Amino acid sequence: MADLMKFSILWAPECNNQWKSVRAVWRGELFGDTALDFQVSMREKKVGEMVGFLRGKEGEMVNIGDVVFTTVFNTLANHCFSEDMIGLGDEKMVKDWKETIWRFMESGTTPTVADFFPVFSGLGPQGQKNKTLKYLKKLFKKWEVIIRQRKETGSLKHGDFLEFMLANEFSDNQMLHMLLEIFPAASGNLTTTVEWAMAELMKNKYAMNKLIEELQKEIKDSNSIKESQISQLPYLNACIKETLRLHPPIAFVPHLASATCKVMNYTVPEGSLIMMNLWALGHDPNTWKDPFAFKPERFLDSGLDFQGQDFEYLPFGAGRRMCPALHYATKQVHFILASLIHFFDWSLPNYVQLDMNEKYGVPVHKEKPLILVPWKKF
Ligand code: HEM
Repeated sequence: MADLMKFSILWAPECNNQWKSVRAVWRGELFGDTALDFQVSMREKKVGEMVGFLRGKEGEMVNIGDVVFTTVFNTLANHCFSEDMIGLGDEKMVKDWKETIWRFMESGTTPTVADFFPVFSGLGPQGQKNKTLKYLKKLFKKWEVIIRQRKETGSLKHGDFLEFMLANEFSDNQMLHMLLEIFPAASGNLTTTVEWAMAELMKNKYAMNKLIEELQKEIKDSNSIKESQISQLPYLNACIKETLRLHPPIAFVPHLASATCKVMNYTVPEGSLIMMNLWALGHDPNTWKDPFAFKPERFLDSGLDFQGQDFEYLPFGAGRRMCPALHYATKQVHFILASLIHFFDWSLPNYVQLDMNEKYGVPVHKEKPLILVPWKKF
């Protein structure tokens, strides 16, 4: 657990030099503009494979979360190791990875009584620590094999993130902890966001039709979409912003007061743990008209963005600890959602009602998986 605090940025309690240097790797090598541009054709290929897979599933029930999870996971696996790790449609493997990652995030991020009342810290939530360690070890085992193989073959020609880490002499421990942060944060948050967006669009036919119209007008090609084509589509963008307002994957964000300060006549002592409730911000009736309704239009003519400047809307957080993968995350969510809607009509399976219940966790996700039936448009 001490290494988790040392090598990760998410679990680092302070913005110290170690946190700064790991974060610099995230902002540069992992998700900086050059790194993202370098990987664009690979991302297009992975989304193309997802579309191909769904074309073969016409008229059948599809678990949207599983398909998106596999696509996101393999995209990252190629970014990091230049190889796929899950076969599309391999339900057993998806289940295994998903469960391990979900459980690791659950046990590793659930606040304990000691987080709120430091006086109890001596008691130590040992059961929770053990659970986190169990899943952590399971994940490490999977990556250890890949790292060992790459070291043994000495192959240094992929231009992927593992090559960068090896060339810069990261220790095995450091590499494993970086991967431990990348895969769960990405696959959990991206999967749940696309799943919610699809669920909201299925529920709100007006928004769905407007999005279909925009995609038909802007994307002429019936075979493939380029990532560059979807970055500037206003209605798609508004649908994603509205999804993140209603369903921020991380509902509560802990920050630490680095100095004593006064907020609205309350004194916040240095070292206090402050929980930002992003879900409540997005549902505040003083800010949002009809806060529980899915209305992407509200973002069309507003300058509101999720870059951490508009404090009424912070799905990616704000300040120094703001999500370092924002750019990557929005690219992926836009591209996957646009492809699902542009290439397919979707229906609910017979006799199935859309369930919109949330289950709290990191990420906050749908209580029941979204099962839909694809119908090819082209
Ligand atoms: C829709 C997708 C995503 C959303 C809504 C999201 C949201 C957030 C939020 C709210 C925070 C906390 C910010 C704060 O403390 O102010 C955060 C931090 C973080 N996110 Fe994301 N995230 C997303 C995708 C990703 C992806 C794809 C990755 C990795 C590949 C990632 C990695 C991280 C990491 C490592 C941190 C911790 C940063 C630090 O503490 O310095 N996130 N994210």
